[in-house]
Amino acid sequence: MDMFIVRGGERLSGSVSVSGAKNSALPLMAAAMACEGETTLYSIPDLVDVKTQSQVLGSLGMDVNRDPDGALRLKTVDETSCIADYELVRRMRASVCVLGPLLAKRRMACVSLPGGCNIGDRPIDLHLKGLSALGAQIRVDRGYVIARADRLRGANIFLGGAFGSTVTGTCNVMVAAALAKGTTTIESAACEPEVVDVGNFLNAAGAKIDGLGTPFLTIEGVEQLNGVKHEVIPDRIEAATLMIAAAITGGDVCLKEVRPDHITAVIEKLREIGVTVQLAFPDQPAKKQSVTVRVTQPLRSVDCIALPYPGIPTDVQAQLMSLLACVPGISIVTDKVFPDRFMHASELARMGVNIRRESASAILNGVSRLSGACVMASDLRASAALVLAGLAAEGETVIRRIYHLDRGYECLEEKLISLGAHVERVRDEPQNMPDSLKLTDGESRPSYSELLDALTGPHWNQSVSQQNTESVTASQDPADED
Ligand code: EPZ
Repeated sequence: MDMFIVRGGERLSGSVSVSGAKNSALPLMAAAMACEGETTLYSIPDLVDVKTQSQVLGSLGMDVNRDPDGALRLKTVDETSCIADYELVRRMRASVCVLGPLLAKRRMACVSLPGGCNIGDRPIDLHLKGLSALGAQIRVDRGYVIARADRLRGANIFLGGAFGSTVTGTCNVMVAAALAKGTTTIESAACEPEVVDVGNFLNAAGAKIDGLGTPFLTIEGVEQLNGVKHEVIPDRIEAATLMIAAAITGGDVCLKEVRPDHITAVIEKLREIGVTVQLAFPDQPAKKQSVTVRVTQPLRSVDCIALPYPGIPTDVQAQLMSLLACVPGISIVTDKVFPDRFMHASELARMGVNIRRESASAILNGVSRLSGACVMASDLRASAALVLAGLAAEGETVIRRIYHLDRGYECLEEKLISLGAHVERVRDEPQNMPDSLKLTDGESRPSYSELLDALTGPHWNQSVSQQNTESVTASQDPADED
C-alpha cells in the first residue's frame, strides 16, 4: 500500500488540464450495455474505478477495450449473464448502474446490493422504486437485487428522497425507460451535469429524452438504441479540487479543458472567500475554455452548504473544509446530501484546526497555518482534502491509504507536481516515515510525557496535560465508497 509525503508551503503556479469525469464515465459505460453494436467513449479517465467497471461489464458479456489513443470501445458479445457479483459491486457502488440497462435489454438482473460506506448510508430504494414503476418485479434475496420484467412499460415516477434526488438512480431509470413501451415522466430527477451527459449519449443512441438538466424528464420509449461515439464531459469535481489547491497555497493556476458552467456554485463560493476566479472563453467548447485562480487578498471565513446540483457538490465539501481550515475565523460547513460525510474532520483536527461536529455540520475555527501530521484517508474526496491541507501545512504531512485517491483522480500527484507541489508517493512502511513525523526510533510506542517532551519541551507540560490527555489517540479504521 502507498502513502503520500507532502511538503507544504509551495505556492502552486502554471496551467494544467482537467480529465474526463469519473461520475459520468461509470454510468455511461453501463448505459452502453443497452445499445446494439459498438460504443466508443472518449476522454474516459484512467482510474481504478473505470477498471472495476470494465470488469463488471466484462463479467456481463461485454468486450471493453482501450485503444492506444485512450478511446474506450464497448460491445456486447454475450447476453446470457445477468449477474453482477458481490465481489465486484462491493468494490465500487457505481456498478449498481448496470441494473437499469440489464432489465431494459436482457429483461432480468441479479445485482449485489452495494451496502453502506464511509460517507454515510447509501440505500438504493429510489432506484428500485423507479424500476418497479416501469413494471419490473423486484425482490432482495441474500444481499442481491433480483429483478425481471417481460417488457418494461412507461410510467409516471417521482424520484425525490429525503436528501433530494438520486444521481445514479436517475441514470438507471432513464436508461430503462428509454427502452420501455410508452412514455415515462420522471419528477424530481437529478440535474447533475453527469446525468445530462448520460442523457445526451442516450439521445444520440436513438432515445427520446426531454428535459435533461431539469427536475422533470419526459422519455418516450424506443425499440432499440445503437452504439455511438461520445466524448465524456470534463470532471467538475477534479476541477474544483485543483482550484482549491491553487487557493489554499496562495497560488496562481490556470485550468484548461474545463466547464466552469458546471461548477458555478463552487466558483461563487471561492469568490465569497476572497479568491479571484477568472473565466476565459466561456461560450467556447470545453476544450477551449479555461479558469484562472489567484489569491490576491487575505481570505475570509464563510459558511457553506453542500446540496444537490446546482448547489455546492457534496464531493467538494471536504476540499472546501481544508481551505476554510486555513482561514482564521469561524466557518460552518454543512452537508445536506450526506449528513455524516465528515471522516476528514478528525484528520484535519490532527493538523491543528479546532473542529466541532453538530449533526450535519462541522464548525471550524480556522488557523493561519496548519501543521504537518500523519493522517489517514477514509474515502475518495477526504483523501483529496488531506492532500490539499498538506500543501498548505507547515512541514511534512503523511497521507495514508491513498488508494482511495487512485479510484477517482487521474494522475493527481503528477498534476500537482507540475504546478510546483512537493508530493512524493512511497510505500507505506515505517522506514519511509519522514523524520519530522518520527517521534521515536519507531520501535517502541512513546509514553505521553515522552511525546510532550519530544514535541514541546518542559514549558508545555503544565497547560496541555490538564485539558486533553485522552486526545492523543490514533483515528479508527474505516472500509470503501464512491
Ligand atoms: C453519486 O452517487 C456520485 N457517485 C457521488 O460521488 C456523489 O456524492 C453523489 O452522486 C451525490 O452527488 C457517482 O456518480 C458514481 P445519490 P449516488 O443517489 O448516485 C440518498 C464521489 O466522490 N439516496 O445521488 O450514489 C443517498 O443516501 C462519489 O465521486 C436514497 O435515500 O448518490 C444520499 O443521501 C461519492 N435512496 C442522496 O440520496 C436512493 O435510492 C444522494 O445520493 C438513492 C440515494
